[in-house]
Amino acid sequence: MTRTDFATLEAFAADRLEMLEETGLRRELQPTARGAGAGAVRSGREMISFCDNDYLGLSMDPRVIEAGARALRTFGAGAGASRLVTGDHPLNHELETMIARLKGLPAARVFGSGYLANIGVVPVLVGPGDLIVMDELSHSCLHAGARLSGARVERFRHNDAAHAGELLTGARGRSLVITETVFSMDGDIAPLADLAAVCARRSAWLMTDDAHGFGVVEVDNPAPIQVGTLSKAVGAYGGYVAGPAALIDLLASRARSLVYTTGLPPSVLASALASIEIMSSEPQLAATCLANARLFASLIGHEPVDSAIVPVVFGETAKAMHASEALAREGYLVSAIRPPTVPEGTARLRFTFSATHREADVRTLAALVLRQLEVEKVH
Ligand SMILES: Cc1ncc(COP(=O)(O)O)c(C=O)c1O
Repeated sequence: MTRTDFATLEAFAADRLEMLEETGLRRELQPTARGAGAGAVRSGREMISFCDNDYLGLSMDPRVIEAGARALRTFGAGAGASRLVTGDHPLNHELETMIARLKGLPAARVFGSGYLANIGVVPVLVGPGDLIVMDELSHSCLHAGARLSGARVERFRHNDAAHAGELLTGARGRSLVITETVFSMDGDIAPLADLAAVCARRSAWLMTDDAHGFGVVEVDNPAPIQVGTLSKAVGAYGGYVAGPAALIDLLASRARSLVYTTGLPPSVLASALASIEIMSSEPQLAATCLANARLFASLIGHEPVDSAIVPVVFGETAKAMHASEALAREGYLVSAIRPPTVPEGTARLRFTFSATHREADVRTLAALVLRQLEVEKVH
């Protein structure tokens, strides 16, 4: 690289950063060390996190850690190659069998992450000349997968199955309807039965992303294609696609984000397996997590919730940022979520609850939030 290359790159990036700064869209990483009991250390301060997705506290469970540590010592730090070469550790298959059983579907395939699962499976299902109809609030990686497929993409109004049906009318080629089960930023649940009925009428396939439901919210899910993550309630890392056996088989030949990337480290697979076993045998973890979310919602006058996510919308980005800073001063870590992650004018604090939160902290947090809503004049 010449000096000129370097200088023009610096100038280009600095210019972009300035534009982002001006529009309030610049993001910055903040080193955070997590600990037991939803603890988090940021900038040297010990805080309690109410914004991560470790809904059952399993990422810190000694049994999950030990399972990973044992596999790490036995099988090494990395998978060494893609799954199609030598990176297909047998633990992948144990995990896939377990996930398929839990999902009530014939088979499952583990991917490197939920993001990779979504961008991998969608282009296998549809392509140019086909149609994707997706909920407008679907996660960014579902949009990325849709774009990669080359299919035409239409967005239906959030949770409006009738609108999805209208958009499917007259479609030629294959049609795929995509939704999340539990919406990541709102915590509400998709009308899966209605969407399945619409799909049946219009000969479309239904695909769901259960990233925020798996292990926490029991949803009756009729979708034949179900994607999820191993990084949230499961507390490890990775993603999966569950569905018909032939489709799952096809993914190993056609899903680029499976074929052209290294397999997950065996230690991560072992931790995920241990975690899912605990998740299945200790339903009180999910019950406690949901009870904490419900207590918080009722204390702040939010409508009742059915998931671990409670959004408090402040509207303007600055208000959400002030509220986040005020909570941080009291030792509660809740990141502000702003556009474009959420629609313009809906900047919010996204509170997430865990089985490890203590009731006293939930109550103190609720009182602080009510005060902050008053300060920011949000009604
Ligand atoms: C709805 C949804 N899908 C997929 C993902 C991506 O999952 P992963 O973190 O495993 O890549 C996320 C995570 O942010 C998510 O919220």
